[in-house]
Amino acid sequence: MSDPVLSLRGVTRTYQTAQGGLTVLKGVDLDIFPGELVGLIGPSGSGKSSLLHAAGLLERPTSGEVRIDGEDVGALDERARTRIRLSRVGFVYQFHHLLPEFDARDNVALPMRIAGWPLDQAQARAEAALASLGLAERTRHQPAQMSGGEQQRVALARSLANGPRLLLADEPTGNLDPATSQSVFETLQTLVKETGVAALIATHNMELAGHMDRVFALKDGHLEERQAESREY
Ligand SMILES: Nc1ncnc2c1ncn2[C@@H]1O[C@H](COP(=O)(O)OP(=O)(O)OP(=O)(O)O)[C@@H](O)[C@H]1O
Ligand SMILES: [Mg+2]
Repeated sequence: MSDPVLSLRGVTRTYQTAQGGLTVLKGVDLDIFPGELVGLIGPSGSGKSSLLHAAGLLERPTSGEVRIDGEDVGALDERARTRIRLSRVGFVYQFHHLLPEFDARDNVALPMRIAGWPLDQAQARAEAALASLGLAERTRHQPAQMSGGEQQRVALARSLANGPRLLLADEPTGNLDPATSQSVFETLQTLVKETGVAALIATHNMELAGHMDRVFALKDGHLEERQAESREY
């Protein structure tokens, strides 16, 4: 088997609140491999977003180790972490966070531009990516001119624009109706298999969780693997 893209060891996260320390992650261990689609479930407040933020280098865990492609990213300074985040991690959220004044093509091209691609090449790649998701007719539309499912597909294309190794999604279909949710999920599934990205997807949708390669539930700050037939919290 190949090496894990994401490795978490003993990850803890404690927030300081007015009532004192609140520990939401109490020692999380997790390995995710290339081309794997892994679900993360758990009730609201169980720490799913906290885990994704630590895994995606948006926040530092209180303790424990985060490795991306074997590299211990906890030891790095913020500049180096930002560089890794931009080049190796893609994010998708419940709400698309596309730039409203940019069309679909330029939203997808943006991460490539930040990575230093020339405009025409970035736009050409963005158009190809959008076309492969069935959005060839939408490349010049702004987000407000697209449906929720189309917006999320554009957000998916953007998250994968720089060829990340790791894809983190926080309830990517949480804002969509069931049928659209299913079809966006199928797009996500296809992209994971095609690109070999390692994907960790937080979801409240147990139907979708049933279609993931593996599923983990956050329970009292720890991960518990769930089998296909019992994918409730
Ligand atoms: N910056 C913060 N400061 C204090 N407490 C926080 C902070 N961020 C999150 N929390 C608390 O940590 C707990 C876990 O939050 P988190 O957002 O990770 O949960 P979640 O599983 O993603 O929930 P949801 O399903 O509602 O998105 C919650 O009790 C939340 O109130
Ligand atoms: Mg959350």
